[in-house]
Amino acid sequence: MIKVVTVIGARPQFIKAAPVSKALKASGRIRERIIHTGQHFDSNMSSIFFEQMDIPRPDFSLDIHSLPHGAMTGRMLEATEKILSEERPDWVLVYGDTNSTLAGALAASKLMIPVAHVEAGLRSFNMDMPEEINRCLTDRISRLLFCPTPVAVNNLKNEGFIGNGTRIILCGDVMYDASIMFRGRAKKPDSVPLPEKYVLATVHRAENTDDTTRLKNIVEGLNLVSEKLPLVFPVHPRTRKLLNKPGIPPLSEKVILTSPVGYLEMLYLLDNCMMLLTDSGGMQKEACFFEKACITLRNETEWTELLDAGYNKLAGSDPALIVSSFEHFLKHPPRFGKNLYGNGRAADEIVKALLI
Ligand code: UD1
Ligand code: UDP
Repeated sequence: MIKVVTVIGARPQFIKAAPVSKALKASGRIRERIIHTGQHFDSNMSSIFFEQMDIPRPDFSLDIHSLPHGAMTGRMLEATEKILSEERPDWVLVYGDTNSTLAGALAASKLMIPVAHVEAGLRSFNMDMPEEINRCLTDRISRLLFCPTPVAVNNLKNEGFIGNGTRIILCGDVMYDASIMFRGRAKKPDSVPLPEKYVLATVHRAENTDDTTRLKNIVEGLNLVSEKLPLVFPVHPRTRKLLNKPGIPPLSEKVILTSPVGYLEMLYLLDNCMMLLTDSGGMQKEACFFEKACITLRNETEWTELLDAGYNKLAGSDPALIVSSFEHFLKHPPRFGKNLYGNGRAADEIVKALLI
């Protein structure tokens, strides 16, 4: 029996951890202990995913959130170090690119506990993003690098990761595993009146929400799209706080706002929407899993294979480009069919590698 400590804290990490936790347990050879940093804490940003996706209850809850990056990461680092020095696991498992990811990886590496990073090798090549800093640093101190795509493997190769004692494994995307595992349980949200045809939108990225001009432009873009088709917009708490800022125009009444929804509700919304407009990392891929065109409200993406396949268009925060991309995809829906994210067994590959 080996011991793995998983460090998670933000919404997308709960979703990524769900299939992996199940596979760890199913192996019968790994004992998992879970640290929840507390980064996301509202019930519809945290506990709902544990309930809906049968993720084991965290063994440790740090309750650290709503702080500037340094303070948040620092407090998580200190608290995680304490737990890891007691637990002394064989591996620390971290996901993605949040402050919780970096704190978990740093705490482990300073105690010489090997780190396994799920979603390694992703790059936006934009160091102004907190996520880019987190993922580059986490990769650098990880022993096992689980890449979802060949592009991610290449990024690591280009950065000289080969031959420095790390193992790079192309395992596919755990979010694809999750979507297959749970799509049969997709649930119509009851918090929102759902039109028959609608466009789905989410916005939360710091570079969009914290920049008044970009947020203003995105709101204008969403309003313009909603003139053509009603738009359903589950609002991240970060964005909710900033939409009322001076300088941000009101959202049109054709934009249907709702609180963040659970994963099963989001699967339903994705499955039934006409198109997705988002700055989310995970949802760009989920649009592809559900064969929906995606307009990405960013200037670049880590998931470049979606652009190459013609499934996704970058529109930045330009209202005119948002609408013209929307019109383009309405007239010319992409032809899906390329398998970009593995075979839905990424979690099994992760377990196999942890056991070697
Ligand atoms: C974080 C990640 C981002 C990821 C996103 C997923 C970092 C640097 N950023 O961004 O990469 O894409 O999660 O959603 O780690 N808040 C609440 N309730 C909650 C959660 C957050 O009110 O349940 C508020 C916080 O108080 C804070 C704001 O939302 O004011 C932002 O939260 P934070 O965790 O700092 O960053 P996210 O924008 O969620
Ligand atoms: N998600 C959800 N409810 C919502 C919005 C998103 O369940 O209201 C899910 C979404 O389906 C995806 C994950 O949360 O699996 C993406 O998280 P987010 O966009 O917050 O973070 P990112 O992927 O950008 O880091």
